[in-house]
Amino acid sequence: MTEKTADITERAPSAPATNTRKVFIKTYGCQMNVYDSDRMSDALARDGYQATDELGEADLVLLNTCHIREKAAEKVYSALGRLREMKKARARQGRELMIGVTGCVAQAEGEEILRRAPAVDVVIGPQTYHRLPDALKRARTGERVVDTDYALEDKFSHLPQAEKAKTRSRGVTAFLTVQEGCDKFCTFCVVPYTRGSEVSRPLQQIVEEAENLVSAGVRELTLLGQNVNAWHGKDKDGRELTLGDLLYRLAEIPGLMRLRYTTSHPRDMDERLIAAHRDLRLLMPYLHLPVQSGSDRILKAMNRRHTAQEYVALIRRIREARPDIALSGDFIVGFPGETEEDFADTMRLIEEIGYAQAFSFKYSTRPGTPGAELEDQVDEAVKTERLERLQALLFSQQIAFNRSRIGMEFDILIEKPGRQAGQMIGRSPWLQSVNIDADPSETGALVRVRIVDAGNNSLFAERL
Ligand code: 5AD
Ligand code: SF4
Repeated sequence: MTEKTADITERAPSAPATNTRKVFIKTYGCQMNVYDSDRMSDALARDGYQATDELGEADLVLLNTCHIREKAAEKVYSALGRLREMKKARARQGRELMIGVTGCVAQAEGEEILRRAPAVDVVIGPQTYHRLPDALKRARTGERVVDTDYALEDKFSHLPQAEKAKTRSRGVTAFLTVQEGCDKFCTFCVVPYTRGSEVSRPLQQIVEEAENLVSAGVRELTLLGQNVNAWHGKDKDGRELTLGDLLYRLAEIPGLMRLRYTTSHPRDMDERLIAAHRDLRLLMPYLHLPVQSGSDRILKAMNRRHTAQEYVALIRRIREARPDIALSGDFIVGFPGETEEDFADTMRLIEEIGYAQAFSFKYSTRPGTPGAELEDQVDEAVKTERLERLQALLFSQQIAFNRSRIGMEFDILIEKPGRQAGQMIGRSPWLQSVNIDADPSETGALVRVRIVDAGNNSLFAERL
């Protein structure tokens, strides 16, 4: 999944205390953390907490953290250092500030966070968010709470759903977690350790949440999972279902206009899912299918369980089913042992596939993963140089893709106001933002457009 990063900075001076408590949630990392932050916010709303975007107003600050690459934990500790100062200043004014760490750093570091960050009141891992309100109650009595169990109860059935929490207005698009955790154990990755083993939510729970979101005004749903196409369930008659079946079922929801899913593993792209791309008008022609490397030697060392040729053949089958599909991927450069030749294989694979968009990273050693034990770690300067070449190629493909949309006609989903008055931003089927002259009353509508220009990240359209 893709990430965003930003820093904790206090944007407003301390506001006067009010009767309702306010929570500020800072989300690091992937879309699943965004989804989780919303669920925590909903759970806290039931406890009387109002969400705020102003750190200065908050009585509770939660850092929902990411552990996927290096320095993530260090970033959290330095944010906690700043929050500690804020907490001290508050104490001098006789005002409370509670601090919680959630997400994957919480899971990985646990007790260590309490030792290193004395200001922290609660540490809660991704599987126990439904116990957050209770943990806060205990913390208010002076206890410092760490809860990083892989809980036995189902957190999703304890967390309030979007429709029931009227505290936040939902937009036109929403995330819906259908699967969590991963059993693949790629040798570079911490996810199987921080998010635990693969768990799929039951069909009926997902359908209900999707229906609730649609009746709250959501038009586009993105199904989330660390390994989303490993989703599996059962229908009423006990028949085994896979992600393709789930998509066919969700596509029947009246009022829903678009479906997407992320992130997938090549090994789990089954026939039914490929058929869904062929058959379902609602399923957008966009697929994020990470390959990480184009070298068979490195793919093996990464424990990806497929070859470069198998990936290329799979993409060919998917493109036969859905010729206009846009591909996106993740790449790692500088995995231990990667030679210039291995890297050249990756560049060749990128040339062969042609990506509309991609995410690429220098390999980052994660303690506790098998990759960290490998000899032959690649020099940092070599990684930097390879990443630059790789990103230049991917960037040129992205620009070529965007420019190839010029003159095309298709529907965009109007999402939000644009930069200038009278303009709105919509989303293309292939995920680019599209600027168009439109009225805010059209939010949530599909509008037929022709593309007249293309930038690096967005498109410009006229209405048809
Ligand atoms: N180093 C660099 N990149 C990583 N990713 C996961 N773990 C690491 C790591 N240790 C990347 C992979 C994955 C994406 C979410 O993050 O490309 O697909
Ligand atoms: Fe990590 Fe591999 Fe699982 Fe993706 S499939 S979450 S990269 S272990």
